[in-house]
Amino acid sequence: MASKEICLGIEGTAHTFGIGIVDGSANVLANEYVMYSPKEGGIHPREAANHHTEKAAEVIRNAMEKADISKDDISLIAFSQGPGLGPCLRTAATAARTLSLSLGIPLIGVNHCIAHLEIGRALCHCSDPVLLYVSGGNTQVISYANGRYRVFGETMDIGLGNMLDKFGREMGMPFPAGPNIERMAAKGNNLIQLPYSVKGMDVSFSGILTAALNKEGHSTEDICYSIQETTFAMLVEVTERAMAHLGKSEVLLGGGVVRNRRLFKMVSDMCQSRGAECFVPPPSLCSDNGAMIAWTGLIMHRAGIRMSLEETGINQRFRTDDVQVTWV
Ligand code: ATP
Ligand code: FE2
Repeated sequence: MASKEICLGIEGTAHTFGIGIVDGSANVLANEYVMYSPKEGGIHPREAANHHTEKAAEVIRNAMEKADISKDDISLIAFSQGPGLGPCLRTAATAARTLSLSLGIPLIGVNHCIAHLEIGRALCHCSDPVLLYVSGGNTQVISYANGRYRVFGETMDIGLGNMLDKFGREMGMPFPAGPNIERMAAKGNNLIQLPYSVKGMDVSFSGILTAALNKEGHSTEDICYSIQETTFAMLVEVTERAMAHLGKSEVLLGGGVVRNRRLFKMVSDMCQSRGAECFVPPPSLCSDNGAMIAWTGLIMHRAGIRMSLEETGINQRFRTDDVQVTWV
């Protein structure tokens, strides 16, 4: 029987199947993952889910070995309940239910977007940040207000990462294209005009993608540079406005796109000019990962949240502000 808090978390909303193991002091004991990458075209949800099913046992075993724990040490199972792709979410949920039932320990479903925020809050020691969460499928500005994490701005169409990956695919770059675009952009220096799409607190990217693909007579380096400068400036604008409205002085970055050094620099500069602080977790905890799910499950459980098996159904459109946040 487990004597202290050790949570095993399962992430499986899209490409990544991850297993994280954390203890009650937010020490990440293991954070193993595998990634499905389509041979061509975009992600196929069924194929991704099959990939996760095939790899699940191996990733769980690796994580337990890394953490150097036995199954009896685990006190809680957490899993990504949504938002995400149905077949992938079901695979993660099934693995989580099986572990919880066979070990006889509680099960908690976690909102994936909130998990990005909670792992950053714990590891970067910030207390009340505005989270700029930019991944493949998601682009949101999230912060705590009146008992919930609320979305103050978001993309009206696709996530920025998906936009970069689509652009990269058309240019013949391997998936994921974000890191490639960052390298190319570093060699560009002519700003080509692209639509700057901010509406109130929301942003959109598909118009920029179309415009970038139709630019003729410019180098790929300059187009990559211009895509980054334009889209990152849009994100900085809405993040800064959220901070001003809410009177907050911390920005936390999350999601795979924040691995981009230029984005980090632009957000840091904005923070510096307002006397605010900017935090970014280590890269392995910015991208989708099991550790963030484990940690969020652990603090929810600690706050007294319990879920019956019936309450652990997946939710493809799980909104950040659907969750009543009782642990902050
Ligand atoms: P989610 O389920 O939250 O939408 P995801 O499956 O997209 O997540 P992440 O690992 O959070 O997974 O993000 C992956 C995205 O990050 C890809 O679109 C990739 O191109 C982008 N990315 C990774 N590194 C960089 C970089 N250096 N610059 C820009 N984008 C990057
Ligand atoms: Fe994510």
